[in-house]
Order: sequence, then C-alpha cells, then structure tokens
Amino acid sequence: MTVHHPSFGRVAPDRVIIFDTTLRDGEQSPGFSMTAAEKLRMAHALASLGVDVMEAGFPVASPDDFAAVHTIASEVRGPVICALARAARDDITRAGQAVRPAERRRIHTFISTSPLHMEHKLRMTPDAVLDAITASVSLARDMTDDVEWSAEDATRTEPEFLRRAVERAIRAGATTINLPDTVGYATPEDMARMFADVRGNVPDADGVILSTHNHNDLGLAVANALAAVAAGARQIECTVNGIGERAGNAALEEVVMAIRTRPDANPYSNGIRTEEIVRTSRLLATVTGFDVQPNKAIVGRNAFAHESGIHQDGMLKDKRSYEIMTPESVGWTRSNLVLGKHSGRAAFRAKLAELGYGDIGDNRLTDAFRRFKELADRKKVVFEEDLVALVDDEVVRD
Ligand code: KIV
Ligand code: ZN
Repeated sequence: MTVHHPSFGRVAPDRVIIFDTTLRDGEQSPGFSMTAAEKLRMAHALASLGVDVMEAGFPVASPDDFAAVHTIASEVRGPVICALARAARDDITRAGQAVRPAERRRIHTFISTSPLHMEHKLRMTPDAVLDAITASVSLARDMTDDVEWSAEDATRTEPEFLRRAVERAIRAGATTINLPDTVGYATPEDMARMFADVRGNVPDADGVILSTHNHNDLGLAVANALAAVAAGARQIECTVNGIGERAGNAALEEVVMAIRTRPDANPYSNGIRTEEIVRTSRLLATVTGFDVQPNKAIVGRNAFAHESGIHQDGMLKDKRSYEIMTPESVGWTRSNLVLGKHSGRAAFRAKLAELGYGDIGDNRLTDAFRRFKELADRKKVVFEEDLVALVDDEVVRD
C-alpha cells in the first residue's frame, strides 16, 4: 500500500527515506560532541548531501543543544528537521519549540519497550508504558503532524507487547514507527522477522512509514538495516562515517552505496547525491577531530587504493577488475595506485608517467624499478616525492 506522509506526500513503494542522525545519536558518542556552530556547518553539508530527514539534536539535553536545533531549523532548508524527546512533557515541548522555525519539522519521541528496560531502567509497568506512548505521541501531534515514535530496545521486546505498543502509537497519531536495535544485538534474520510481524499483524501499520535504526555492536548494523528494508521498512536511520553510541550506528555511506551498487539485491531509490559523500565525511572528521580508519568502506583512505602488483596490473587494464563502484561516484577524485613492495613494474611505469617521467627508456626504467624495490623494502609506503627523488637521482648519476 502507498503511504501518504505529512512531510513527503505520496511515498513511492520503492523509496527509502534516509534519516540522518549524525547530529544526535552520532554526537552522543564520547569525544564527538559538537558546538552549535559546528553542528550548523555539518547540517548545511547534510542538506547538500540530500538527506530526507536530519535529526538535529536532543533539545532538552542542554541550552546549547536547544539553540543548535533552533538555528538549524531556522537556517537549513531542504530536509525535514527533527528533534528527539523522551516520553515526557518538558522534552516534547522543548523539541517542538526547537524545530518550530523549520519549513518541515518532526518530533521524534521514544520509550523503552523491552522487559529489561521497562523493569530496571524505567521502573514502569507495561501498562504504564502503553499509557505513556499514547500521551507522548498525542502531545507531539498537537505541535506537528509529522511525529515519529520509537520503541527503544525493540529487538529485545516481546513480539506481542511490541505489536500492542506500535498499535497505541499509530492510534495516537504517529506517522513513522521506528524499531531500533538499540544494543546492536539482532541478526538480519531477527530484523526480517520483527518487521514482517509488525507489518502483518498491527492494524494500520501499512499506512505509516516503518523505520530501522541499528547499532553496530556486532558489526551487523548495515546488514540489519538492509534486511529490515527487505521486510518492509522504508526509512533507514544512519550516521556519516557510522559514528554513534559505543560501536556506532549504521553508516550512511555504506547503506546508500549498498543500495546504489547492488540494485538487483536492494531495488530501492533514495535522494542522496553520492558524489557529496567523501566531502561530508571529511568535514565530519575535521569538525570532530576523529579520522575514519583507513580500511573503512567507501570513505577510508584505502577504500580505493591498490598496492599489490596483481591488482594494480588488473586496474591498469580495466578498473572494474578490482573496483565495484567508481571512486568519482562517491566524491574521490580517482583511484589510488599506492606504490609499495607488492607493486609491479606496470604500476611503477604508470606512476612515473603520471609524474612526468614517461620517456626514461627501458634500461633506466629497469634500474629505477630495482632501486624502488629496495626502497620499498625499507619503507611501508613509497610516496611520490620518493619516486621523484629516486628518478632524479638516477638522471643526475647518468
Ligand atoms: O538506539 C536507540 O534506541 C535510539 C533511540 C532514541 C531511537 O537512539
Ligand atoms: Zn541509537
């Protein structure tokens, strides 16, 4: 069934809404907090990237976060601007006030539904939780018609209780229902089961957007997000560079490129301008002071780097030999043939040509290549400056 959403109108059945929570769940991880000015800079970048919804913060958390969300709502155009709120009057009121200037705004309210969280964290009975869902969603609906409700710790919630909770939220007016894997515990099979169950058994679940929110404690966040979408979810919550609580959230760039690169397995559309991915990732690293690991998919500096001779030779003949997407499609300028001890003569020759030494002749090339291998044994990576020095030295020696 086609969903009519207050912020998006008619949502095509294959359209996946990209909900970015870099500025909320991402910012919550130790060392990643951002000033209001830094958040605003990131928010403009996220709008250029083309996210559909931007969760800008948790306004009740601090006056600074309220101000950051309010400024983003006033100045950033394009995405729906969202603020987080617990199931509490003050939280929801502050969230509503913070996003009020936005052209399109959302309040995202949540409460835990797992037995463990209800008993030990909330110290509330299941019935009290159900009543809190009705009250919180209704209050949020008084302030905006785009309301998201999340069942915190959904993946450790009894299926029967989860259905009742979701039904309450829909009846109270929620237009997006998010089922988070708060502790990164679920497998893709669990995800598929949970979404199919809610979709198939909760009245009116096909009239709202179902959303997936995955943490990466077992390294399964992206796989879980894609499994949820295959089972009917149409919103993915994610962060740039996968930053977030503990091991992080599903990485936006990985989710989006898995959809883009494998349309056969993931036949969905989204509005991300993928060429902006690397620029946005770099900005986040600069703002937070945390670089991504070199082997990080899509945005790590080795994601399109090739050192082994066999791979470099294949790349020089046809880039598709060892690349499943082009570096340009995500915003890198080109692939990088890194010269090291595993590199072969073909890559060495190509690199020299790139550096302007295209015609040094076979004998000189052989000698330079031998000296390069000796150098590569001593150094982990041979930089372009090393090559220039090596070849220039060769020319001088002649
Ligand atoms: O992980 C989680 O459950 C959350 C909710 C607040 C959506 O971040
Ligand atoms: Zn989370």
